[in-house]
Amino acid sequence: MKTNWKAGTLLAPVPVVMVSTGTMEKSNIITVAWTGIVCSEPAKTYVSIRSERYSYDQIREQGAFVINMVTRPLAEICDYCGMVTGRKVDKFDHCGLTREASETIACPRIAESPLALECKVTDCIHLGTHDMFLADITNVALEESLLDDNGRLDIGRGDFVCYGHAAYYSLGKELGRFGYSVADKKKGRNATTRTGGKR
Ligand SMILES: Cc1cc2nc3c(=O)[nH]c(=O)nc-3n(C[C@H](O)[C@H](O)[C@H](O)COP(=O)(O)O)c2cc1C
Repeated sequence: MKTNWKAGTLLAPVPVVMVSTGTMEKSNIITVAWTGIVCSEPAKTYVSIRSERYSYDQIREQGAFVINMVTRPLAEICDYCGMVTGRKVDKFDHCGLTREASETIACPRIAESPLALECKVTDCIHLGTHDMFLADITNVALEESLLDDNGRLDIGRGDFVCYGHAAYYSLGKELGRFGYSVADKKKGRNATTRTGGKR
């Protein structure tokens, strides 16, 4: 039997990411759980950030940010970047992270993260506690170690982390590929594409 809780943000698990902001010279990192993909074509994402965050001002100034995916070895650093403000600590230096130049924007990527989305802000929507920065994804940078022998992205190789109800989790086993419910299993075909399936 289900019980009813008051309306709230209990969508879990969700990705948790480290968003790098600013420039190579003056950069910051903020941990963000309120993020996701909102459109396939054009490829669009968002991050929702409180206006009092140091990163908020950097995103407004630059009109850009990088979403860096979090791996299991980066989990504790990710938590730290969500506990302290860049007004007081240089989180790149403190955490021993490396600034890596992006292809399409001035914000640095985090070199230690194997998957990074460079984003240019198109809209800032005031929602309440958070402002939502809607953005075009202008480049995807990924480590070749995430590719299998056929050059296909194998996201399982990333050892990525997700987040839910105030806790971090690692991913479990792959349960099936996109379309496996309707695949012709006898012929060994399924609907998986190189990009992970069209949505
Ligand atoms: C797991 C986790 C998720 C978070 N998600 C968000 C978020 O989606 N939006 C936000 O504004 N702050 C979020 N925070 C809080 C900020 O990361 C935190 O306040 C950070 O210290 C702000 O850094 P800054 O002042 O350098 O920008 C999150 C923190 C943690 C630990």
